[in-house]
Amino acid sequence: MLITARQVLALQKEHERQNFTCGSPALDRYLKSQARQDSDKRVAAVFALVQPPASQVLGYYTLSSSTIHADEVPPEIARKLPRHPKLPVTLLGRLAIDQGLKGQGMGQFLLMDALHRSLQAAVGIAAMAVVVDAKDALAADFYQHFGFIPLNQSISRLFLPMKTIATLFD
Ligand SMILES: CC(C)(COP(=O)(O)OP(=O)(O)OC[C@H]1O[C@@H](n2cnc3c(N)ncnc32)[C@H](O)[C@@H]1OP(=O)(O)O)[C@@H](O)C(=O)NCCC(=O)NCCS
Repeated sequence: MLITARQVLALQKEHERQNFTCGSPALDRYLKSQARQDSDKRVAAVFALVQPPASQVLGYYTLSSSTIHADEVPPEIARKLPRHPKLPVTLLGRLAIDQGLKGQGMGQFLLMDALHRSLQAAVGIAAMAVVVDAKDALAADFYQHFGFIPLNQSISRLFLPMKTIATLFD
């Protein structure tokens, strides 16, 4: 059997999700029972990490358009922005890796894929940052490890300016 490299693909109905376990029941449940519908209805774009020809989902993330209030942005960054009450962002709503793969760089691989995809999309539809919803303190630590900055008035929402993301892929 030909074993290919891991790939990130738009979630398809053929992708096997029922055995996915990441350590967060809510994130497991979302993949198993909500993700396809969100994707079909264009509420969220869902991307799956797979290793063809196997169809088992090894990890996933979701992206959607969102906005943040300008006063959520820390003042040192807000000062350099045009004055609009709301700012367009890309929301990385969920990101998870199967427990069997943890600690092997796959979370970082998926995060970089999501940031790169967001950067490319922002050429066509503006987004000044990627915002994440960290489900707990450990998840927030993961994002802060990669330079994400907490938004004002929130302990669980963090963001990374698109300008910074662009420097990652120069
Ligand atoms: C958080 C999660 C995605 C990390 O995935 P992973 O594949 O184990 O992480 P990686 O092996 O890619 O780690 C990459 C780097 O991040 C660091 N890291 C991983 N988890 C971390 C955490 N919780 N806090 C701080 N740093 C973390 C690693 O030490 C590594 O650093 P290094 O490159 O300097 O050595 C994974 O544990 C997971 O799916 N958790 C459950 C769901 C979740 O919390 N999702 C995030 C928010 S919705």
